Amino acid sequence: MIRVDGVSVAYGAVQALRDVSLEAATGAITAVLGANGAGKTTLLRTISGLATPRSGTVSMDEVVLTGKRTEDIVRVGVGHVPEGRGVIAEFTVEENLRLGAMIAPGPLGEALAQQYEWFPVLGERRKQAAATLSGGERQMLAMARALIAGPSVLLLDEPSLGLAPLVTAQLMHTVADLCSTTGLTVILVEQNARSALRIAERAVVLYLGRVVADDEAAVVARDDQLRQYYLGMVE
Ligand SMILES: Nc1ncnc2c1ncn2[C@@H]1O[C@H](COP(=O)(O)OP(=O)(O)O)[C@@H](O)[C@H]1O
Ligand SMILES: [Mg+2]
Repeated sequence: MIRVDGVSVAYGAVQALRDVSLEAATGAITAVLGANGAGKTTLLRTISGLATPRSGTVSMDEVVLTGKRTEDIVRVGVGHVPEGRGVIAEFTVEENLRLGAMIAPGPLGEALAQQYEWFPVLGERRKQAAATLSGGERQMLAMARALIAGPSVLLLDEPSLGLAPLVTAQLMHTVADLCSTTGLTVILVEQNARSALRIAERAVVLYLGRVVADDEAAVVARDDQLRQYYLGMVE
Protein backbone atom coordinates (compact mmCIF):
# COMPACT_ATOMS: atom_id res chain seq x y z
CA MET A 1 0.00 0.00 0.00
CA ILE A 2 1.11 3.54 -0.76
CA ARG A 3 0.16 6.12 1.81
CA VAL A 4 0.46 9.85 1.18
CA ASP A 5 0.06 11.77 4.40
CA GLY A 6 -0.42 15.53 4.60
CA VAL A 7 1.84 16.31 1.65
CA SER A 8 2.42 19.89 0.53
CA VAL A 9 4.69 20.74 -2.39
CA ALA A 10 5.55 24.16 -3.79
CA TYR A 11 7.57 25.38 -6.75
CA GLY A 12 8.72 28.75 -5.47
CA ALA A 13 5.52 30.71 -4.87
CA VAL A 14 3.34 28.16 -6.69
CA GLN A 15 1.68 25.79 -4.24
CA ALA A 16 1.16 22.62 -6.31
CA LEU A 17 -0.09 20.28 -3.53
CA ARG A 18 -1.79 21.39 -0.32
CA ASP A 19 -2.02 18.93 2.55
CA VAL A 20 -2.78 15.96 0.29
CA SER A 21 -3.53 12.61 1.93
CA LEU A 22 -4.57 9.44 0.16
CA GLU A 23 -4.03 5.70 0.14
CA ALA A 24 -3.54 3.37 -2.80
CA ALA A 25 -4.45 -0.19 -1.81
CA THR A 26 -2.19 -3.09 -2.75
CA GLY A 27 -3.24 -4.90 -5.90
CA ALA A 28 -5.82 -2.27 -6.82
CA ILE A 29 -6.07 0.60 -9.27
CA THR A 30 -6.47 4.01 -7.64
CA ALA A 31 -7.31 6.79 -10.08
CA VAL A 32 -6.12 10.32 -9.42
CA LEU A 33 -8.22 12.69 -11.49
CA GLY A 34 -8.32 16.40 -12.06
CA ALA A 35 -7.95 19.16 -14.61
CA ASN A 36 -4.70 20.43 -16.04
CA GLY A 37 -2.67 22.04 -13.23
CA ALA A 38 -4.47 20.18 -10.43
CA GLY A 39 -1.20 18.72 -9.13
CA LYS A 40 -1.43 15.16 -10.48
CA THR A 41 2.07 15.01 -11.96
CA THR A 42 3.51 16.64 -8.85
CA LEU A 43 1.87 13.96 -6.74
CA LEU A 44 3.51 11.14 -8.75
CA ARG A 45 6.86 12.96 -8.72
CA THR A 46 6.61 13.27 -4.96
CA ILE A 47 5.89 9.56 -4.56
CA SER A 48 8.90 8.62 -6.68
CA GLY A 49 11.20 11.11 -4.96
CA LEU A 50 11.62 13.52 -7.87
CA ALA A 51 9.85 16.32 -5.98
CA THR A 52 10.47 17.07 -2.31
CA PRO A 53 7.51 17.92 -0.10
CA ARG A 54 7.64 20.94 2.23
CA SER A 55 5.70 18.88 4.70
CA GLY A 56 4.11 15.45 4.89
CA THR A 57 5.33 11.96 4.08
CA VAL A 58 4.92 9.19 1.55
CA SER A 59 5.27 5.61 2.68
CA MET A 60 4.97 2.17 1.15
CA ASP A 61 3.92 -0.69 3.42
CA GLU A 62 5.14 1.23 6.49
CA VAL A 63 8.52 2.09 4.87
CA VAL A 64 8.91 5.87 4.64
CA LEU A 65 9.91 6.84 1.10
CA THR A 66 10.17 10.59 1.70
CA GLY A 67 13.81 11.58 1.86
CA LYS A 68 15.03 8.51 -0.03
CA ARG A 69 16.78 8.98 -3.33
CA THR A 70 14.76 8.24 -6.48
CA GLU A 71 17.04 5.35 -7.42
CA ASP A 72 16.40 3.75 -4.02
CA ILE A 73 12.65 4.27 -4.40
CA VAL A 74 12.87 2.44 -7.75
CA ARG A 75 14.77 -0.35 -6.02
CA VAL A 76 12.11 -0.86 -3.36
CA GLY A 77 9.63 -1.42 -6.17
CA VAL A 78 8.08 1.83 -7.38
CA GLY A 79 7.95 2.15 -11.18
CA HIS A 80 7.12 5.53 -12.71
CA VAL A 81 5.86 5.97 -16.27
CA PRO A 82 6.16 9.72 -16.84
CA GLU A 83 3.79 12.03 -18.65
CA GLY A 84 4.79 12.15 -22.31
CA ARG A 85 6.14 8.59 -22.07
CA GLY A 86 9.84 9.44 -22.22
CA VAL A 87 10.97 6.58 -24.43
CA ILE A 88 14.14 7.16 -26.42
CA ALA A 89 13.02 7.66 -30.00
CA GLU A 90 16.33 6.71 -31.65
CA PHE A 91 16.61 3.44 -29.73
CA THR A 92 14.81 0.29 -30.81
CA VAL A 93 12.01 -1.16 -28.73
CA GLU A 94 14.36 -3.75 -27.30
CA GLU A 95 17.10 -1.23 -26.52
CA ASN A 96 14.58 0.85 -24.56
CA LEU A 97 13.55 -2.25 -22.63
CA ARG A 98 17.14 -3.19 -21.87
CA LEU A 99 17.62 0.21 -20.26
CA GLY A 100 14.67 -0.50 -17.99
CA ALA A 101 16.02 -3.97 -17.24
CA MET A 102 19.23 -2.75 -15.61
CA ILE A 103 17.78 -3.61 -12.23
CA ALA A 104 15.55 -6.47 -13.44
CA PRO A 105 15.45 -9.28 -10.90
CA GLY A 106 16.08 -12.25 -13.23
CA PRO A 107 17.79 -13.07 -16.55
CA LEU A 108 17.27 -10.48 -19.28
CA GLY A 109 15.85 -12.95 -21.81
CA GLU A 110 13.08 -13.99 -19.46
CA ALA A 111 12.31 -10.42 -18.49
CA LEU A 112 11.99 -9.42 -22.15
CA ALA A 113 9.86 -12.46 -22.97
CA GLN A 114 7.49 -11.56 -20.14
CA GLN A 115 7.00 -8.05 -21.52
CA TYR A 116 6.46 -9.39 -25.06
CA GLU A 117 3.83 -11.71 -23.66
CA TRP A 118 1.94 -8.81 -22.08
CA PHE A 119 2.51 -6.52 -25.06
CA PRO A 120 2.77 -8.76 -28.17
CA VAL A 121 3.04 -5.79 -30.49
CA LEU A 122 6.34 -4.83 -28.82
CA GLY A 123 7.72 -8.27 -29.58
CA GLU A 124 6.75 -7.91 -33.23
CA ARG A 125 8.50 -4.53 -33.34
CA ARG A 126 11.45 -5.17 -31.11
CA LYS A 127 14.01 -4.23 -33.79
CA GLN A 128 12.18 -1.05 -34.81
CA ALA A 129 13.15 2.40 -33.54
CA ALA A 130 10.72 3.69 -30.93
CA ALA A 131 10.19 6.73 -33.18
CA THR A 132 8.32 4.52 -35.66
CA LEU A 133 5.75 3.37 -33.08
CA SER A 134 2.20 4.71 -32.81
CA GLY A 135 1.22 6.67 -29.70
CA GLY A 136 -0.42 3.65 -28.13
CA GLU A 137 2.58 1.44 -28.84
CA ARG A 138 4.90 4.04 -27.34
CA GLN A 139 2.78 4.10 -24.21
CA MET A 140 3.02 0.30 -24.02
CA LEU A 141 6.79 0.56 -24.41
CA ALA A 142 7.00 3.13 -21.61
CA MET A 143 4.93 0.83 -19.39
CA ALA A 144 6.96 -2.26 -20.30
CA ARG A 145 10.18 -0.38 -19.58
CA ALA A 146 8.95 0.34 -16.06
CA LEU A 147 7.48 -3.15 -15.56
CA ILE A 148 10.63 -4.98 -16.61
CA ALA A 149 12.30 -3.86 -13.37
CA GLY A 150 9.66 -5.88 -11.51
CA PRO A 151 7.94 -3.11 -9.53
CA SER A 152 5.15 -3.80 -7.06
CA VAL A 153 3.73 -0.29 -7.58
CA LEU A 154 3.26 1.38 -10.95
CA LEU A 155 2.70 5.13 -11.27
CA LEU A 156 1.07 5.98 -14.60
CA ASP A 157 0.93 9.63 -15.63
CA GLU A 158 -1.81 10.27 -18.19
CA PRO A 159 -1.27 7.17 -20.32
CA SER A 160 -4.25 8.06 -22.52
CA LEU A 161 -2.93 11.49 -23.53
CA GLY A 162 -3.24 11.93 -27.29
CA LEU A 163 -4.58 8.44 -27.92
CA ALA A 164 -7.73 7.55 -29.85
CA PRO A 165 -10.62 6.29 -27.66
CA LEU A 166 -10.31 2.71 -28.90
CA VAL A 167 -6.56 2.62 -28.22
CA THR A 168 -7.17 4.11 -24.78
CA ALA A 169 -9.78 1.44 -24.04
CA GLN A 170 -7.33 -1.32 -25.01
CA LEU A 171 -4.59 0.19 -22.89
CA MET A 172 -6.89 0.49 -19.87
CA HIS A 173 -7.90 -3.12 -20.38
CA THR A 174 -4.23 -4.17 -20.31
CA VAL A 175 -3.64 -2.19 -17.11
CA ALA A 176 -6.64 -3.83 -15.44
CA ASP A 177 -5.42 -7.26 -16.60
CA LEU A 178 -1.91 -6.70 -15.29
CA CYS A 179 -3.27 -5.58 -11.98
CA SER A 180 -5.57 -8.56 -11.53
CA THR A 181 -3.09 -11.21 -12.72
CA THR A 182 0.05 -9.94 -10.97
CA GLY A 183 -1.28 -8.11 -7.92
CA LEU A 184 0.37 -4.91 -9.09
CA THR A 185 -0.64 -1.73 -7.26
CA VAL A 186 -1.46 1.04 -9.75
CA ILE A 187 -1.85 4.77 -9.29
CA LEU A 188 -3.43 5.95 -12.50
CA VAL A 189 -3.31 9.70 -13.10
CA GLU A 190 -5.74 10.86 -15.75
CA GLN A 191 -7.51 13.93 -17.05
CA ASN A 192 -9.58 11.44 -18.96
CA ALA A 193 -11.81 10.63 -15.99
CA ARG A 194 -14.26 8.46 -17.86
CA SER A 195 -11.66 5.89 -19.02
CA ALA A 196 -9.89 5.77 -15.67
CA LEU A 197 -13.10 5.38 -13.68
CA ARG A 198 -14.00 2.30 -15.73
CA ILE A 199 -11.05 0.30 -14.39
CA ALA A 200 -10.28 1.93 -11.04
CA GLU A 201 -11.55 0.73 -7.68
CA ARG A 202 -11.08 4.07 -5.97
CA ALA A 203 -10.78 7.58 -7.25
CA VAL A 204 -9.22 10.67 -5.74
CA VAL A 205 -10.06 14.02 -7.32
CA LEU A 206 -7.58 16.90 -7.06
CA TYR A 207 -8.52 20.52 -7.60
CA LEU A 208 -5.87 23.25 -7.35
CA GLY A 209 -3.64 20.97 -5.32
CA ARG A 210 -6.28 19.82 -2.84
CA VAL A 211 -8.18 16.56 -2.52
CA VAL A 212 -11.85 17.37 -3.18
CA ALA A 213 -13.09 13.78 -3.35
CA ASP A 214 -11.84 10.34 -2.34
CA ASP A 215 -14.27 7.49 -2.77
CA GLU A 216 -15.11 4.30 -4.63
CA ALA A 217 -14.71 4.91 -8.37
CA ALA A 218 -18.36 4.02 -8.98
CA VAL A 219 -19.48 6.67 -6.48
CA VAL A 220 -17.27 9.35 -8.05
CA ALA A 221 -18.53 8.39 -11.49
CA ARG A 222 -22.14 9.01 -10.38
CA ASP A 223 -21.50 12.29 -8.57
CA ASP A 224 -22.96 14.97 -10.85
CA GLN A 225 -21.34 17.87 -9.05
CA LEU A 226 -17.87 16.34 -9.22
CA ARG A 227 -18.36 15.38 -12.82
CA GLN A 228 -19.42 18.89 -13.77
CA TYR A 229 -17.13 21.06 -11.70
CA TYR A 230 -13.93 19.09 -11.38
CA LEU A 231 -13.89 16.49 -14.10
CA GLY A 232 -15.38 18.41 -17.02
CA MET A 233 -17.66 15.47 -17.81
CA VAL A 234 -20.71 17.43 -18.94
CA GLU A 235 -23.10 15.26 -20.92
N1 LIG B 1 8.62 22.77 -12.53
C1 LIG B 1 7.64 23.62 -12.17
N2 LIG B 1 7.90 24.90 -11.84
C2 LIG B 1 6.92 25.74 -11.45
N3 LIG B 1 5.63 25.41 -11.38
C3 LIG B 1 5.29 24.15 -11.70
C4 LIG B 1 6.27 23.19 -12.11
N4 LIG B 1 5.64 22.01 -12.36
C5 LIG B 1 4.33 22.23 -12.12
N5 LIG B 1 4.12 23.51 -11.72
C6 LIG B 1 2.82 24.11 -11.34
O1 LIG B 1 2.28 23.30 -10.30
C7 LIG B 1 0.89 23.12 -10.48
C8 LIG B 1 0.58 21.62 -10.60
O2 LIG B 1 1.16 21.13 -11.79
P1 LIG B 1 1.12 19.60 -12.20
O3 LIG B 1 1.50 18.80 -11.03
O4 LIG B 1 1.94 19.45 -13.42
O5 LIG B 1 -0.42 19.39 -12.50
P2 LIG B 1 -1.18 18.34 -13.45
O6 LIG B 1 -0.27 17.19 -13.70
O7 LIG B 1 -2.42 17.98 -12.70
O8 LIG B 1 -1.50 19.09 -14.71
C9 LIG B 1 0.51 23.94 -11.69
O9 LIG B 1 0.09 25.21 -11.24
C10 LIG B 1 1.81 24.04 -12.46
O10 LIG B 1 1.84 25.20 -13.24
MG1 LIG C 1 0.41 16.32 -15.40
